[in-house]
Amino acid sequence: MDAKVDRPLERLSAHLADDLAAVDAMIRARMASEHAPRIPEVTAHLIGAGGKRVRPILTLAAARLCGYGGAHHIRLAATVEFIHTATLLHDDVVDESRARRGRPTANLLWDNKSSVLVGDYLFARSFQLMTETGSLRVLSILSDASATIAEGEVLQLTAAQNLATTEEIYLRVVRGKTAALFAAAAEVGGVIAGAPEADVAALRTYGDALGIAFQMADDVLDYAGEASATGKNVGDDFRERKLTLPVIHAIAAADAAERAFWRRTIEAGDQQPDDLAQAQAILARHGAIEATRAAALGWAARAQEALSVLPDHPLREMLGDLADFVVARIR
Ligand code: IPE
Ligand code: IPE
Ligand code: MG
Ligand code: MG
Repeated sequence: MDAKVDRPLERLSAHLADDLAAVDAMIRARMASEHAPRIPEVTAHLIGAGGKRVRPILTLAAARLCGYGGAHHIRLAATVEFIHTATLLHDDVVDESRARRGRPTANLLWDNKSSVLVGDYLFARSFQLMTETGSLRVLSILSDASATIAEGEVLQLTAAQNLATTEEIYLRVVRGKTAALFAAAAEVGGVIAGAPEADVAALRTYGDALGIAFQMADDVLDYAGEASATGKNVGDDFRERKLTLPVIHAIAAADAAERAFWRRTIEAGDQQPDDLAQAQAILARHGAIEATRAAALGWAARAQEALSVLPDHPLREMLGDLADFVVARIR
């Protein structure tokens, strides 16, 4: 990996260290509940495992890059991470996942009911936090994003198992379930800083494109990653019969035998123990991982282009490198 894209998240974290410590303190203070002990048990399990903190970093970096000197960006970054954490709790129930952030999922350790309800609690906490900024515009951006995430997850649910799912539908799912929060996270940083509208729009475009590249990379890692690196199990998407971009590419290039394989495993859901390895071999045969990586690189480049109108600042360079980095994860 070349030096430029090496560890941009760490460089951003170091640059924003004081802000991130304040975000962490706020998350810890707000994730508790006096009355329901299950809440701090579940939140401590998931939040204590860390996570990359990409979204709060976007908010903090955007605010600082736009010259913000107040304290609301801390609340907004914590809000964004709460929304993210709530969606992860719900997502692991929906996806029946067993590993997250290198730990067993909350649905596995406790149960689906706890994950759904604690996820709801975190969502509600996120709205309490964002109202404290007093900005209706910020509320509007983050509540729109929350609705769009849910929409993306539901669209994915109905697109799963359908071999006719197009790249266009996939993109709509990804924009909803992942890019909406990336875009909002970056945008609210600019808004709270009172940045010019052109800069706010650029931050939103950057977040959207970065989020798409990020999810495409995640979808590659679901077939070609290492659980030790991602903290999640390989093969979840195949088991859940999701039409992610690598599979869409492979289906487009499938011969009759491969088509029968996808019909049986994805459409009919009849999966045998060796089928994941078989799916991985088919993806490799058609360069489906490479094609997805190329698509992700295209979106990373769009993210970088969007940054060009923003003020010249070390954080702008780091955000640019972050776009390279999310795709470099799959090299
Ligand atoms: C996981 O997001 C959900 C996706 C959009 C793929 P992250 O990969 O940012 O998860 P954490 O917060 O680092 O665990
Ligand atoms: C990520 O969904 C988006 C949300 C959590 C809303 P995925 O299901 O693709 O992400 P992972 O692989 O579980 O992190
Ligand atoms: Mg999932
Ligand atoms: Mg999911």
